[in-house]
Amino acid sequence: MNIFELKDLKTKDFGRAFVHLETVESTFLTMREFEKQGAVHGCVVLADEQTLGRGRFSRRWESGKGLGLYFNLLLRPDLSPTLAPRLILFAAVGVAQGLRDLGFEAKIKWPNDIVISGKKVCGMLMESGGDMEHLRYVSAGIGINVNQTLSDFPDELQEKAASLFILSGREQSRETVLTAVLNRLEENYYLCINNYEELSENYTRLSATVGHEVVASGGSEVSGFAEGINEDGELLVRDKKGVLHALNIGDVSVRGVMGYV
Ligand code: BTN
Repeated sequence: MNIFELKDLKTKDFGRAFVHLETVESTFLTMREFEKQGAVHGCVVLADEQTLGRGRFSRRWESGKGLGLYFNLLLRPDLSPTLAPRLILFAAVGVAQGLRDLGFEAKIKWPNDIVISGKKVCGMLMESGGDMEHLRYVSAGIGINVNQTLSDFPDELQEKAASLFILSGREQSRETVLTAVLNRLEENYYLCINNYEELSENYTRLSATVGHEVVASGGSEVSGFAEGINEDGELLVRDKKGVLHALNIGDVSVRGVMGYV
């Protein structure tokens, strides 16, 4: 195992408890175990490699050894479970801003894909535990493509995925990327809890989806103009007849009319 040094971390909680493992099935599963054992708010579990990395819609997440950042961040939010959908936005804003701090023109494709020059460089998923009254934890699983070359992606992804290495032509330090992202994740997490309106404005400013024509498929088949997001993080799309649809993260996949973004 190589030693990761997060020396420029400016956070209070995020990444202060940090576990770096070589190979796991999925950091989601590892974090589930740590959570049961009482892991603290802000704990990060990072793996160099995942053998069963999991993506949205039950897809697999390519997690080749040492190429990307594959991590889960544990949150213990003091938030009503009904407000939990809001947490989807903070992670997207945090990663996008962290990558922008490093000079990448990162944007958010709704709900939380991070894209640069129209290519996906990061995806995230969340799971939570608790009951109707109390959210015991939220585990945010984040995968960032850092040093992959094009051939590290399967054929079907080569058109729409990229890594920071591919986009910049330079190998990137995973420590530096993780530090920048954790710094911004924490900032936006507290905005989410204390000033959701500002977080939502940040999200809209960074969105590659809002303000564009989109096509949604999956649960609801809708095409129209993405007007914004509501307070539950749903995408508001007005169709040709003027009807406003609120698309939920769980059941649709949204694409721009001109391609992936
Ligand atoms: C997506 O499909 O866009 C979501 C991808 C999420 C990938 C990350 S990598 C770390 C964590 N562990 C997993 O198994 N998945 C998430």
